[in-house]
Amino acid sequence: MKATEILMEEHEAVLYVLSISEKICCKIESGAPFDLEHIGHIIDFLKTFVDKCHHGKEEDLLFPELEKVGIKKENGPIGVMLFEHTAGREYIKQLSEAFENYKKGQSGYSKEMVDAIRKYSELLIPHIQKENKVLYKMADMHLSKATDELLVAGFEKIEAIRIGAGKHEEFHKMIDALGKIYMND
Ligand SMILES: [Fe+2]
Ligand SMILES: [Fe+2]
Repeated sequence: MKATEILMEEHEAVLYVLSISEKICCKIESGAPFDLEHIGHIIDFLKTFVDKCHHGKEEDLLFPELEKVGIKKENGPIGVMLFEHTAGREYIKQLSEAFENYKKGQSGYSKEMVDAIRKYSELLIPHIQKENKVLYKMADMHLSKATDELLVAGFEKIEAIRIGAGKHEEFHKMIDALGKIYMND
């Protein structure tokens, strides 16, 4: 698989988790009981799979290679992507804090959790579309086969070092399990 194909496959997993998260938001809003553990799993996924791993691959490896072939960071597409990653981190922080407060018995924080999840989705869904349709297309056009191979090898290193062997598969199992619960109706 090419580097951009690996990243696009990860985008699919992210979009699927965001649609599960929206189902959980609707449940919270309707006043139905909801499983806090599932929100904990989603926060772990957003922090580790999405931010540390996926955004790490983009920021530390893909984007610098794109800059080398002339795609702009300042006032350009890479700068926009980096800005959106930073904004996403802020929403994950808000979600984590609301989650911790809710766990301490402050039930009013359920609304904060819903808000943070929705803001994150509203940011990340178009972000993913821009990368798939514009930035990754530029990568496919401008990066050599040798660079692509270096990127793929670097991605594997990031996975092993930042999230640990086997954790990626664990996330996929967790996503499947949540999907069976929330995506069948
Ligand atoms: Fe990104
Ligand atoms: Fe991405």
